[in-house]
Amino acid sequence: MKKIVLGVTGGIAAYKAAELARLFVRGGADVHVVMTSAATEFIAPLTFQVLTGHPVYVNMYADRSGEKIKHIDLLEETDLLVIAPATANILAKMAVGLADNLLSTLYLAARCPVVVVPSMNVDMYEHRIVQENINKLTEHGCHVMDPGEGELACGVYGRGRMPEPEDIYAYARAALRPNDFAGLKALVSAGPTREPLDPVRFLSNPSTGLMGYALARALKERGAEVTLISGQTHLRAPAGVRTVDVTTTEEMFDAVKDHYEDCHLVIKAAAVSDYRPLEVSEQKVKKTSDLSTIELAKNRDILLELGKEKGDRILVGFAAETEDIFENAHQKLINKNLDLIVVNNLKEPGAGFAVATNRVSIIDRSGAVEELPLMEKEALAHHILDRIAGLL
Ligand code: CTP
Repeated sequence: MKKIVLGVTGGIAAYKAAELARLFVRGGADVHVVMTSAATEFIAPLTFQVLTGHPVYVNMYADRSGEKIKHIDLLEETDLLVIAPATANILAKMAVGLADNLLSTLYLAARCPVVVVPSMNVDMYEHRIVQENINKLTEHGCHVMDPGEGELACGVYGRGRMPEPEDIYAYARAALRPNDFAGLKALVSAGPTREPLDPVRFLSNPSTGLMGYALARALKERGAEVTLISGQTHLRAPAGVRTVDVTTTEEMFDAVKDHYEDCHLVIKAAAVSDYRPLEVSEQKVKKTSDLSTIELAKNRDILLELGKEKGDRILVGFAAETEDIFENAHQKLINKNLDLIVVNNLKEPGAGFAVATNRVSIIDRSGAVEELPLMEKEALAHHILDRIAGLL
């Protein structure tokens, strides 16, 4: 279980921190809340106490006995310090190392990753000194989240809004990840390819791109520089990932080749069409044309071509199988000169296309099979990366 210290400072968005605390608790974390006294003007400590099941700390001097509360103890074995909302005031204190309340003191003593979520009026946020403080905190290794844009509590429109608790939660989880892919260039392909028959019809498959996008996002979270070559999907490009949109297998082939030269790792999660119509009609094929057969031509196998020029890159493929699953997948790994292959058993419930979960096995060059339980694609993406990290 992760231990999280949540620091809440005195902005109107402090009420949203209650929802954030709840999300951490629901995610299985042990959450301890520290508030500034200004924060208690906006939301009662009792709210956090009830949500987290722990007392809330506000003062350096916990009771009137004069005994200083052991702020270092509070940080013991803490995995993450999250300050949300972070006012201009706390940012300034952190940037100069001022320790005049419990939270600013804790920050100086923290040795864990620190996530800071600035939230304030747009003019304050854009003030040079606030921006300088944010830059300084970033240079010191804090993960500073960009505020949202929208209507602010003061009635003006602009940047400075505290992001939604779900987004802060996802951002904080990313900060907990190891940075084990830092310095690596990764190429991920995702989604289906489409092979046109005429201007309104194509051959394709039900891939939605979820698995490849989850991998691209996970790689980014773990420090890689990521290029995502994506077939047509409805997914939002993961933040910070360079995305190249393609439609056909030939286009995917060209885009992958363009980025292959200087990359260290390729994960081909795309569901590529093996065939394309031999002829593409320029006009819509009419009913009256009495079309009864479509002649197909074979597409190039992108991964096979990459495998021929593998060098010291790591190549990871996917395989979709319905029979003799492990034998077929291992054969693909050998033929395409891969390091790992992730195989979907398409007959398993909850596995494969267009679902949030997947049930796969991972096979290595020796043929060893790791059978994984049904899991969310996001968790699976990190598991696949753990396996790749073992090869780096
Ligand atoms: N692949 C590719 N180019 C193709 C076909 C497949 O790069 N023209 C890649 C896929 O992205 C995947 C792996 O090869 O990583 C295996 O894809 P799969 O469809 O399971 O296998 P195929 O090689 O196409 O063989 P088959 O359809 O006969 O099972």
